[in-house]
Amino acid sequence: MYQFTTDCLIGIEEIDEEHRALFQMINEAFDLLSDSSESSMVLKNLLEKLKEYAATHFAHEEAYMERIHDPELPLQRREHAFFIEKINSYHLEATAGSPSSAEELLTFLVHWLYSHILSSDIIIGKISPKETDPLAFTDEYKTGIELIDNEHRRLFEIIAEVKRLIHDEMMTDKYDEIIQLLSSLREYTRFHFEHEEELMEAMHYPDLEIHCMAHTAFIDRLVDINLSELNNIDDNQQEFLLNLLSFLQSWLVEHILKSDKLIGEYRKLLL
Ligand SMILES: [Fe+2]
Ligand SMILES: [Fe+2]
Ligand SMILES: [Fe+2]
Repeated sequence: MYQFTTDCLIGIEEIDEEHRALFQMINEAFDLLSDSSESSMVLKNLLEKLKEYAATHFAHEEAYMERIHDPELPLQRREHAFFIEKINSYHLEATAGSPSSAEELLTFLVHWLYSHILSSDIIIGKISPKETDPLAFTDEYKTGIELIDNEHRRLFEIIAEVKRLIHDEMMTDKYDEIIQLLSSLREYTRFHFEHEEELMEAMHYPDLEIHCMAHTAFIDRLVDINLSELNNIDDNQQEFLLNLLSFLQSWLVEHILKSDKLIGEYRKLLL
């Protein structure tokens, strides 16, 4: 049973309801698979319905993002198209007759969905305007766990470095700096997530699994950044950096406020 927990809530009711429904359909399909008395026709119909529902949901989400001029819309469109393609690439006729390939497809879909919601949908409407002040690490972000707060502060600093790089007008080719910044960000994030996960494990934190999934989804987005899109044209680099900054800032703020602070609250209960 794949749980749709509060970590998956993005705070836009219509979209949250549709995500919940998608999870429910996938869970039903898994149940059907394990129940051998069910005919393959039923499973086939359910997969067909899942595909239709996902397409309708993506259309709603994209329309919403368009209305609010969300800068991540092009990326989301690409990711949604990938999901639909993946379902299409499985021939449902064949799938229905072969439980293992149906199971493979469903497992892929549910993991994709978790990762997509936790890394991309979660920041719909949260992208901060590009010209705001650099992030200040205020008390609002504190979890009350010193180690974690210090590491979050360091992450904010790395993001501030990205910001400085964007505004450095003396530098025309920023390629090397970008590469360096991205690798230190990846490295530091991994290091920090490890600490956070160890801490959650040590105190038997109940939402450990979904919290770790959010971390993995974030790292995956960092790893997936397509460096080949970066060339020596200054404008292109500026745009790349601005998009990167928006994503990092929004995701981190959202994750700290919504998920990491809960770890701090849980720890207080144990003290
Ligand atoms: Fe979605
Ligand atoms: Fe989405
Ligand atoms: Fe976290």
